[in-house]
Amino acid sequence: MILEVTDLRLAFGGVRAVDGLTFSVDEGEIVSIIGPNGAGKTSAFNCVSGFYQPTGGAVRLAGEYVTGLRPSAVAARGLARTFQNLRLFGELSVLDNVRAGTHLWLRQSAFDAVLHTPRYRRSERESTDEAHTWLDFVGLRGDRAGLVRHLPYGEQRRVEIARALARRPKLLLLDEPAAGLNHGEKAELLTLIRRIRELGMAIALIEHDMGLVMEVSERVVVLNFGKEIADGPPEEVRQAPAVIEAYLGQAADDDEVHAARAGFEEEGAHHA
Ligand SMILES: Nc1ncnc2c1ncn2[C@@H]1O[C@H](COP(=O)(O)OP(=O)(O)O)[C@@H](O)[C@H]1O
Ligand SMILES: [Mg+2]
Repeated sequence: MILEVTDLRLAFGGVRAVDGLTFSVDEGEIVSIIGPNGAGKTSAFNCVSGFYQPTGGAVRLAGEYVTGLRPSAVAARGLARTFQNLRLFGELSVLDNVRAGTHLWLRQSAFDAVLHTPRYRRSERESTDEAHTWLDFVGLRGDRAGLVRHLPYGEQRRVEIARALARRPKLLLLDEPAAGLNHGEKAELLTLIRRIRELGMAIALIEHDMGLVMEVSERVVVLNFGKEIADGPPEEVRQAPAVIEAYLGQAADDDEVHAARAGFEEEGAHHA
């Protein structure tokens, strides 16, 4: 198991944002976490990634307990994430935003940095090369020297994914990556998520776009009021009465599933 979350709890005053959540993500698996707004999805991610201290429960990453560790410590053990509301460095270039991800594994001492030793210059070059590789990977072909805040929204989302990938994580957490994307961009995201899995990374995905969730997930965990109300393969979860009642009844949209599939097949045809 890459991720094992056991009886996770988080309370804000009287609000139980996460209320005894247990789920896991296996190697090479894509697990989606869905549920109505306010169900506790982002709060659960924040606990897993160290941004919030859970009030109870345990989080294990690749077999190691990471419960309550700081975000940087959890990241160093193989977790990278994106945010529901983008958190890029707006005043840095596209390239530098992704280079920031590489500093997790790049070995640089302050001594080398201050003196600009050959070793430092070599590692800076390595960081730049890696950043370009991930920008290629997410399909960002435009100017990489310009400020990231000048990019269209959909491209900023891809920069954030590239930065997370540049950390070379074992597990990637994506919080609503399709939010604000148009139809074509969603189809591209679907392809991208599958290509990330092919690299051997496991993915936990919070997403409202049911077409995307149904297409990419091995398993779907459904939250409502901080509690898990279903966990299983997408076809099964989709038919669970508790889920339909809480959520899917209003959100499931077959047209979107077909559109996402059509977009994906079109993409595949281009590559063939
Ligand atoms: N920083 C916070 N302070 C107080 N309450 C919060 C905070 N973050 C989330 N909550 C509350 O926790 C619950 C779950 O929110 P959230 O995890 O953002 O849900 P989701 O991502 O599923 O929409 C909501 O009731 C929300 O208002
Ligand atoms: Mg959220």
